[in-house]
Amino acid sequence: MKFFIDTANIEQIKEAHDMGILDGVTTNPSLMAKEGITGKENIFAHYKKICEIVHGDVSAEVISTDFDGMIKEAEELVKIHKHIVVKVPMIKDGVKAIKYLSSKGIKTNCTLIFSPGQALLAAKAGATYVSPFIGRLDDISVDGMELIAQLRLIFDNYGFTTQILAASIRHPVHIIQCAEVGADVATCPLSSILALLKHPLTDIGLEKFLADHKAASQKTEKVKV
Ligand code: E4P
Repeated sequence: MKFFIDTANIEQIKEAHDMGILDGVTTNPSLMAKEGITGKENIFAHYKKICEIVHGDVSAEVISTDFDGMIKEAEELVKIHKHIVVKVPMIKDGVKAIKYLSSKGIKTNCTLIFSPGQALLAAKAGATYVSPFIGRLDDISVDGMELIAQLRLIFDNYGFTTQILAASIRHPVHIIQCAEVGADVATCPLSSILALLKHPLTDIGLEKFLADHKAASQKTEKVKV
């Protein structure tokens, strides 16, 4: 399973990249706004900065909701860097745009997926990724992970190459469940990635190893004296 980070925060992207486990980045207009990035020039410069850190796909979302607007934006976005994947919303014109962009060899990520039918349409149109939002489904008492499992089954039934990019991940258990049901990618907040590192027995074990090493070294030093 590939690990993407779901943020536009440069420090967090660098931290995940420095661990050596980062395969890509997803952003959205809310995440860009959270970093205070506004205005086309600044937004494009920020995408470029992200692309230069990460050796993998970086999703940049269009703001337009009509076909012509989305295509115009997409064509500008892909000129920023070869890592750019155009993120397109799951609406009728979005499906048309995905079809057009995939015919031109431009990678797409269909966002705001909440049902198997939406994902099926995006895959039929040739999307590189579909982004089912697990956490937002859980928030309304619908099992988000069940959607990932349904998409895995449907895509495997027909050999769709569209990758299931599990999004709206809220905690480390989501990441493990994604791996269990076969998501191709999990895009995660840094906090959820770092939480995977933690286990109390690891901390206790390491403390004991280091203490035993120190005690044995001190004993050897004393014998030498
Ligand atoms: C996906 O690409 C979105 O950016 C993101 O995962 C949405 O997550 P949220 O529901 O935490 O806003």
